[in-house]
This record gives sequence, C-alpha cells and structure tokens, in this order.
Amino acid sequence: ALSPTGCPISANAAAFDPFEGPYQVDPAEALRWSREQEPVFYSPKLGYWVVSRYEDVKAIFRDNRVFSPSIALEKITPVSQAAQDTLKRYNYGMNRTLVNEDEPAHMERRRALMEPFTPEELAHHEGMVRRLTREYVDRIADKGRADLVDEMLWEIPLTVALHFLGVPEEDMDTLRTYSIAHTVNTWGRPSPEEQVAVAETVGKFWQYAGKVLEKMRQDPDRHGWMPYGIRKQKDLPEVVTDSYLHSMMMAGIVAAHETTAHASANMFRLLLENREIWQEICENPSLIPNAVEECLRYSGSVVAWRRIATVDTRIGDVEIPKGSKLLIVSASANHDGRHFENPDELDIYRDNTTDHLTFGYGSHQCMGKNLARMEMRIFLEELTRRLPHMELVPNQTFTYLPNTSFRGPDHLWVQWDPAANPERRDP
Ligand code: HEM
Repeated sequence: ALSPTGCPISANAAAFDPFEGPYQVDPAEALRWSREQEPVFYSPKLGYWVVSRYEDVKAIFRDNRVFSPSIALEKITPVSQAAQDTLKRYNYGMNRTLVNEDEPAHMERRRALMEPFTPEELAHHEGMVRRLTREYVDRIADKGRADLVDEMLWEIPLTVALHFLGVPEEDMDTLRTYSIAHTVNTWGRPSPEEQVAVAETVGKFWQYAGKVLEKMRQDPDRHGWMPYGIRKQKDLPEVVTDSYLHSMMMAGIVAAHETTAHASANMFRLLLENREIWQEICENPSLIPNAVEECLRYSGSVVAWRRIATVDTRIGDVEIPKGSKLLIVSASANHDGRHFENPDELDIYRDNTTDHLTFGYGSHQCMGKNLARMEMRIFLEELTRRLPHMELVPNQTFTYLPNTSFRGPDHLWVQWDPAANPERRDP
C-alpha cells in the first residue's frame, strides 16, 4: 500500500490503530518507534498523518494558518446515515467555537472573551474549589476505601466548570452521560448501532445547551463566562455569534470538565505509583505546583489534537499535500528525549516541565489552563494533607474510554486505614 503522496507505508504505520491496543494502554510508549524511526507517517487505518516528535508537534501548533484547527471537533469516525438522520432530527448544529475557528475571527473572539480567565478573575473561584474539595474529602475520610473518580474527581471539576460557565448545577448526572457521548461522537470509533444511540444523546445535549442559553438570555446579569459572552454579543454581534454561543455552550462543558477530571485522575494514579514522590510531596507541599505540571507532561488528559493542512507543505522531510489531516500526538511529544531529559522518568524537579504540550501551544493554547492547574493543585494539597497514607488498591485494572484524544481512567480505587488519618492521630 502507498501513502497519498505515493510513498510506501511501513509495517508499523500500517498497524497503527489509535482506538485499541498499545495506543489505548499508553500513547507515548505506543509511538516510541515513530519518534525514533519515522516521526511523520501516514496511518491508513485512520486516514490521518501522525506526528510524534516534540519540535514538529510544536511547530504545527504554532502555525495555525498553514495548519488550520478547523477539524478539531469534527467526528473522527465517519458517521452512518442513520446517525446523521438522528442528529438532524435534533437540529444538531455544532459549529465553530474557539478551538476550531480560523483567523482572523478566532483572535477577535478570543480577545473579546478573555477577561474571565485573567488571574484576578480566577482567584474568585479558589475559595469555592477549596470548599468543595474539603466537603468531598469529608465524605470519604472515614471509609478507608474509595473510587476517587466516582466519589470526587469527576464531580468537582463538573461543578466548577458549570459554575465558571454560569450554568445551573441541577442536571449533573445527565450532563455526565451527555459529555461521555460527546467524546465518543467526536474522538471515538462507535459501531454503526452505537452511533445511533450516541447520536440520540448528543442530540439531546445540543437541545439542552440551547435551552440553557435561552434561560441565560433572560437573565444576562448572571455571573459566568457564558453570560459574559451574551453581554459581549450586544456590542460585537459579528464576533460573538449565536452559532458560537450555542456551540460553546455544549463544547465548553466538555472542555472545562472532562479534561480536568481526567488529568486529576491521571495525576493521582501516577503519584501513587511513584510512592517516594508522593511521600516527598506529603512532607513538602511547596513541591505541589511542580508535581502538577510534571504529571500534565507525563500523563496528560489530552493526548492528541488535530489540524488540517491548508496548503502543500512539509513537516521535516515529509511532503504534506494541501487537505491532509494531521493527528499531532502531544503525549508522544511530551516523552521526546530530544526535548526532555530522561523523558520517561517522573521528575518533579525538572526545570523545563512547563514546556509540555498538553494544553496545546500558540494562539489557541488552552484558555482554561490556570483554572485546571488550580483545581489539580487544591486536590493534591487536600489529599496529601488529609490522607497521606492512601495507596492504590492493588491489582486493579484501569480501563479507558477508547478514543484518540481524551484520556483518564474510568475508575481509580484507593484505600487507607481511617484509624491512621492524621486528624485522628493528631487532632
Ligand atoms: C483549548 C487542553 C482545561 C477551555 C484547549 C486545547 C487543548 C486543551 C489541547 C487546544 C489547544 C491548541 O489548539 O493549541 C486542556 C486540558 C485541560 C483543559 C488538558 C485540563 C487539564 C480547560 C478548562 C477550560 C478550558 C478548565 C475552561 C474553563 C479551553 C478553551 C480553549 C481550549 C476555551 C480554546 C482556546 C482557543 O482556541 O483559543 N484546551 N484544557 N480548558 N481550552 Fe482547554
């Protein structure tokens, strides 16, 4: 078989499958061969060019004109007619938000909507995150055993996300189902039967987003990023469009919630698997911000992102024709020894950790990164203080929702002796 440019396809490239096998177990490890031998390759199973080295991934993020993000939220698996019909019945119209918008519209909109993300504005949320985290830890502290995902790390980021966006919190369980369906719909490989069920849920999510937006329009003085957008629309109707507001209402919940929940679960798994480091952090909490960052590098929750070439171009010495779709694997870039010394070692003293590409890079770089970092820092502060003796339940198997881009364990079981909780030992 040949690539679209007529080059032979290597056995490794032909075998590459991002929906199962090694990539689902560990995407960075699964692309070690590529980083070493073939840093840009065409994947016939995916129909995308895959990019695995740090400098290449960063250069693609940096140039959002040659490498447009317009396909970032496109369904990666072609949709069946039945699923398309289902979506149509719900008037599904997910379109441009920010993450998949081209210039110059993107920058105008990003600037107009930036203020709620400034450090001063984010500081207003810290008290709430702390309070919520303490409440959730109180609920589990005496149990001696918990699934951190189900009992804490899923709900707190969802609550914070809804609060940040200004969405009422009453529908949390429904939203959990909705956001999982959105991930499968966008980045997964559902079977034809599953596609219809997923489309039903995504259609409902779309309608729900529309209703919430309508309600907000009646009360535009509410706090939150979405009401802020509604107010901005009055002055800048061409920049903050109706289509943007409806699409962001849906995509924003997922962007702010699942990413942070997964990143937090990855972090606790990783630190508890590296007990000496966990111990060090318990003894010296000033290490926490660095530890958060190193976990985002080592085991981030967004492992790959997408771009499309708008002109004929090259990446390294590989020819990339106009219209080529690219899967740029940030998880692989973050383990590239050309940029990070001993990349497979978890090292919370590393001085270039923040160079990781888990939040993307350049003009689209994640706007919520400091909110996510704050949440992860507070989770780690509270759990290392209240349950420093916590450990992973041995021999558990970790499962992941199969998809190209979002990664975090479905469950994370931990255990501890409640009689040894510091507040009991040392009240
Ligand atoms: C964009 C990751 C949390 C809002 C992005 C991008 C990535 C990403 C990879 C695309 C970057 C690019 O194209 O260069 C993450 C991760 C998170 C996280 C790993 C958690 C650990 C959040 C949160 C919010 C948020 C909490 C909102 C409160 C956004 C927005 C964009 C974005 C609005 C679009 C920015 C633009 O295109 O200009 N994020 N994100 N994210 N993220 Fe996040």
